[in-house]
Amino acid sequence: MTKICCIGAGYVGGPTMAMIAKQCPDVQVNVVDINENRIAAWQTDELPIYEPGLLEVVQEARGRNLFFSTDVDQGIRDADIVFVSVNTPTKTFGEGAGCASDLQYWELCARRIKEVSTSDKIIVEKSTLPVRTAEAMERVLHAGDNPVHFEVLSNPEFLAEGTAIDDLHNPDRVLIGGHETETGRKAIQTLVEIYATWIPRERILTTNLWSSELSKLTANAFLAQRVSSINAISALCEATEADVAEVAHAIGTDSRIGPKFLKASIGFGGSCFKKDILNLVYLCETYGLKEPAEYWRQVVVMNEYQEKRFVTTMLHSMFNTIANKRIAVLGFAFKADTGDTRESPAIKVCRELAAEHATIVVSDPEAMENAKLEMPELADRIGFEEDPYKAAEGAHAVAVLTDWKLYKELDFRRIYDGMQKPAFLFDGRNMLDHDALFEMGFEVYSIGKGYKTHLK
Ligand code: NAD
Ligand code: UGA
Repeated sequence: MTKICCIGAGYVGGPTMAMIAKQCPDVQVNVVDINENRIAAWQTDELPIYEPGLLEVVQEARGRNLFFSTDVDQGIRDADIVFVSVNTPTKTFGEGAGCASDLQYWELCARRIKEVSTSDKIIVEKSTLPVRTAEAMERVLHAGDNPVHFEVLSNPEFLAEGTAIDDLHNPDRVLIGGHETETGRKAIQTLVEIYATWIPRERILTTNLWSSELSKLTANAFLAQRVSSINAISALCEATEADVAEVAHAIGTDSRIGPKFLKASIGFGGSCFKKDILNLVYLCETYGLKEPAEYWRQVVVMNEYQEKRFVTTMLHSMFNTIANKRIAVLGFAFKADTGDTRESPAIKVCRELAAEHATIVVSDPEAMENAKLEMPELADRIGFEEDPYKAAEGAHAVAVLTDWKLYKELDFRRIYDGMQKPAFLFDGRNMLDHDALFEMGFEVYSIGKGYKTHLK
C-alpha cells in the first residue's frame, strides 16, 4: 500500500488529500498539521473550512484511508510520498518584504523531513513557490551525510475556493514537474499513476521542475490580469455609458479571448492572486528584468485603484459625507461559496468607510467568524449581523461586496422600506437587477454601468 503524508491541512492540503483518498482506496493518506484546532476540526463534521461538497468526500474516506493527525514526524516517517502544502505568504520583513515569498514554513518542513526520514521518499511541492525553490530544498534535504534519497517534484494546485471539489474531481489539467533523470522520471511516473486513477492521462502534463513551478505563478498572474483588464475597462464604461457586461460578452465570444474571468468587480481578493503576482514581480526584479516586473505590478496597482474607486464613488454619491451614516455591507468573503476572507476587497472597503467615520454593519452567510478577526482595530465602527434584512434596517446605503447567490434572491422591496431615504445601493459585483431596484426607488450604482439617480 502506497503511503502519502501531506504536511499542511489548510484550504489546499485538506481538500486535495480528501480527493486522493476518495479516489484511491488503496492509498493511505495521512494529513498532518501543527495546528491542533484545525486537525481536531477535520476529525468532526464541522470542517475547518467551508467548501461545497467537501464534507461528503471527507466522510467517504475518513477512517478508511484518510487520517488527520498532529504527529508530523510519524506521518513523514511512514510515508513514501510527502506532499508539502504549507502556507507561503508574502514576506513582511527584511529583503523582499512586501513582495517575496516567506519560505520559512517550507524550509522548516524540509528540515523536519530530512531529520526524521529513514527511507527514500518523493517530496512533492504542493504549495505555490518561487521558481527554483526545489533547488534550495534539495540542498537542505541532501545536506550532510544522510543516506536517504529524496526526489523532489513540483505539483502545483490549481483549485479555486468555492469550486474546489469539482476542480479536483475534473481538473483542466494536473501538472507534474520533475528532474529529467532516471530517478526523476520514476518519481513523476509514481505520481502520474495516482492521479490517473480518475483523471484522463492526456490531462496530466509532465514538465521539468522549473517550468512547473513557474507555470503556477504565471497561471495566477494571467487570471488576475484578466480581472484587472476588465476592471480598467469598467471605469471607462462608467465615463462613457458603455455597459461593461455587454463589452465583456462582446469580447468574450471571440474564441481567442474566451468568456471566463471577465466579470468586472470591486477587485480580486483571496490569499493567492496578489501574493503570487508580487512574487512574480520580485522574481523578475531578482533576475534584473525591470520592465516585466513593472508590467505585472500594474495588475495589482489596478486592483487597488478599483477598490478605492468604489469607496470614492460611494462617498461622492452620498453628498460627500458618510460620517455616522449606517452602511450595510452584504458579503465579506473574497468570493461566493467560501468562508475565506483573506485579502478580501471587503477589508479595504470597510477600512476606507471607517476612515470616513461611517458606521458599518457586516453580513455574510459563511464568513462572519473570519470577518470578525480581520479588522480588530475598527471594532468601535463595525457591527456584525448575519441576517441581511436586519443589517440593512435603518441603513443609508447597502453595499454588495460578495457575489453570494442569495443576494440575488433578497426581497429588496422589504430592504428599501426599512432604509433611510434616499436609499443607496452599491453593487460591487454587478449582479443585481439594477433597473428593478431603480424602479423601487433606490439610488443605484453598479461597477461598469454607472449611477442611476432620482435626485435632481
Ligand atoms: P493554509 O494557511 O490554509 O494552510 C497551511 C497549513 O499549513 C496551516 O494549517 C498551517 O498550520 C500548516 N503549517 C505551516 N507550517 C507547518 C509546519 N511546519 N508543519 C506542519 N504544518 C504546518 O494555506 P492554503 O490556503 O492551504 O495554501 C497552502 C499553499 O497552497 C500556499 O502556497 C498557497 O499559495 C497554495 N495554494 C492555495 C490555494 C487556495 O485556494 N487557498 C490554491 C492553490 C494553491
Ligand atoms: C485562484 C485561481 O482561480 C485558482 O486556479 C488558483 O489555484 C488559486 O487562485 C490559488 O492559487 O490560490 P481563488 O483565489 O480561490 O482561485 O478564486 P478565483 O475564482 O480565482 O477568484 C479570485 C478573485 O477574483 C475573487 O475575489 C473573485 O471574486 C475575483 N474575480 C474572479 C473577479 O472579480 N472577476 C472574475 O471574472 C473572476
